[in-house]
Amino acid sequence: MYTVLPLTAALVGIVSAAPAGSKRDFSPDNVYYPLSNGFPNPNPAAVQKIQMDADGPLSNAPPPDKGPSADGITSLKLVAFNELFEVAYFNELIYNVTEKVPGYDLGYGHEYVIDALRAITAQEQLHALNANGGLKRAKVDQIEPCKYSFPVTDFQSAISLAATFTDIVLGTLQDVIQVFAKNGDDGLARGTASSLGNEGEQEGFFRLVQKKRPSAKPFLTAGVRDFAFTAVQGFTIPGSCPNIDTIPLKTFKPLTVESKDIKAETQALHFSFAKEHAGTEDWASLSVVFINGQTVPIVKSLDKVKVEGDTVHFEAGFPFDEFVMNGLTIAAVTKGSGPFPNAPAVAKEAIFGPGLIEIE
Ligand SMILES: *[C@@H]1O[C@H](CO)[C@@H](O)[C@H](O)[C@H]1NC(C)=O
Repeated sequence: MYTVLPLTAALVGIVSAAPAGSKRDFSPDNVYYPLSNGFPNPNPAAVQKIQMDADGPLSNAPPPDKGPSADGITSLKLVAFNELFEVAYFNELIYNVTEKVPGYDLGYGHEYVIDALRAITAQEQLHALNANGGLKRAKVDQIEPCKYSFPVTDFQSAISLAATFTDIVLGTLQDVIQVFAKNGDDGLARGTASSLGNEGEQEGFFRLVQKKRPSAKPFLTAGVRDFAFTAVQGFTIPGSCPNIDTIPLKTFKPLTVESKDIKAETQALHFSFAKEHAGTEDWASLSVVFINGQTVPIVKSLDKVKVEGDTVHFEAGFPFDEFVMNGLTIAAVTKGSGPFPNAPAVAKEAIFGPGLIEIE
């Protein structure tokens, strides 16, 4: 592992001035699709090329003889919705690094990063085609891409954001497989687990580039489809997703994590949300819930509540030491205090979320 350190050291923080006048033009008007290869509707020759770039093809196994269930179809829709966002993101990231737009000039390490990102975007295109292909076989409308906007303007923040949304995917695919299992969609479980592993490999790369250990924790943080659905919508232009209304998942109200640069220690964290969405002013009737690893969700009270205009500020005890909460933590504000046996039980009662906390 130490031999790669000079490389990662070179990747971190080396940003030279880009030529004046260079500007963003990958996605005029936030429109990312179709890509130059025709994706999301590539022709067979283009699919062949994507498979070469991805270092592997789509499965050629015959589709499962039954299903998918209605809930299984919802999962395929969510996966397609998420992957379309990811492909847009990684294509723009490749563009930014290739064109060395300000903030994206890596100097040494450039070729390795571009090469890794090209494989990742091709692999994500195949994940999207796989999910939308499953919908097509089920004679359900395929999910269409939205317009997107990404809150990053430099390489390190872009990789850090990629690591966070990939962590959400790593949790969400657990939920997808669980829901497949529950509904007898066993024919879809193996392929999904296989893509989950691929996402984990990508995560190792994003972590390495951030000078973190490649593997975050022994059992990755559980996700819930509704949390992922809400999180991805944060990168879409409202009203621009042609058939998002065909995805029957919940969208929560935003929970802001106000604390920055959160250290690996037990502490009080600061959050806020919009008062109008709470549906109550009895703050003791709400709880903050933390989901980390495979630990039973941790329930805390809202402390030091302060209402300032339309915003409710509060703190909550974050018991890092007790539960060794490295990696991703998903925070939510729920009605009541549970107990919540698992992450889906939290989503069922959640009003605000997901608040995303990443700790090394
Ligand atoms: C690419 O760079 C532009 C210009 O700084 C920025 O607005 C956009 O968010 C960047 N995209 C990614 C994925 O890094």
